[in-house]
Amino acid sequence: MQIVSSTTVLQEVLQRWREEGKQIGLVPTMGALHEGHLTLVRRSVAENDVTVVSVFVNPTQFNNKSDLAKYPRDLQRDAALLEAVGCDLVFAPEVSDMYTPEELDTPFEFDFQGLDKVMEGKFRPGHFNGVVQVVSKLFRLVEPRKAYFGQKDFQQLAIIRHMTRVMEFGLEIVECAIVREPSGLAMSSRNERLTLQEREIAATISKVLFECRTFVPGKSPAELRAWVETQIDAVEGLRLEYFEIANSNTLQSALSWDEPTVGCIAVFCGDVRLIDVIKCS
Ligand code: PAF
Repeated sequence: MQIVSSTTVLQEVLQRWREEGKQIGLVPTMGALHEGHLTLVRRSVAENDVTVVSVFVNPTQFNNKSDLAKYPRDLQRDAALLEAVGCDLVFAPEVSDMYTPEELDTPFEFDFQGLDKVMEGKFRPGHFNGVVQVVSKLFRLVEPRKAYFGQKDFQQLAIIRHMTRVMEFGLEIVECAIVREPSGLAMSSRNERLTLQEREIAATISKVLFECRTFVPGKSPAELRAWVETQIDAVEGLRLEYFEIANSNTLQSALSWDEPTVGCIAVFCGDVRLIDVIKCS
């Protein structure tokens, strides 16, 4: 496995692979890898001739600068995990390899057609501009045949699908199921910041989501929203930011179970912000 930081060296390796007719899979990450990421990498290794994993804490998608500063970084640990699951190349650029100073200073413009105005986008203004900026750069650099993303970031996935269509990247976006800890807590790099007690409390989030699904179609989407809000509010140590039952395609509030729907939640456990998703109908 090679670890490459320069885009020039990356292009040389990719060029050689393309000349050899190899199909390239890409797994974009920000490092701090856990089993959820490794599942994406294993899938890419199984479905492509070579797999590139990018490890880049993208500054342009952080609207909260202290979150960016606190983001865990340990390339050696990540590289060891990636080598063990068969990754061929780790692309770990510096910020200056990815962005010009002008790009860092200017918000990235993109027509989201409303997909960025709800849920995460409402609470993290500018976040998805940064995500689209970096993922489109990675797609251009690597030109993968398939790129792998986790369902936990459901809104991100919908936006990347939209971007892939609009920018005509001609690659397949592969959606991978959420990997959960035995308690049900969705795996996330942020879980590392939870104390043992907070981890137990945070496990309630998925329990509430699993239970709420059992009320479909008996309760309406509006009733279910209210039920989940009450359940989370009753747990000491959790602070609900939002729970939404959204149309899986448009991400707008769902009105009935005849639409394809997902329940999306963001909750603070202590000062750690956690998200989770459940398919409802
Ligand atoms: O999901 C993430 O880890 C990031 O948003 C991504 C897709 C790697 C872009 O920085």
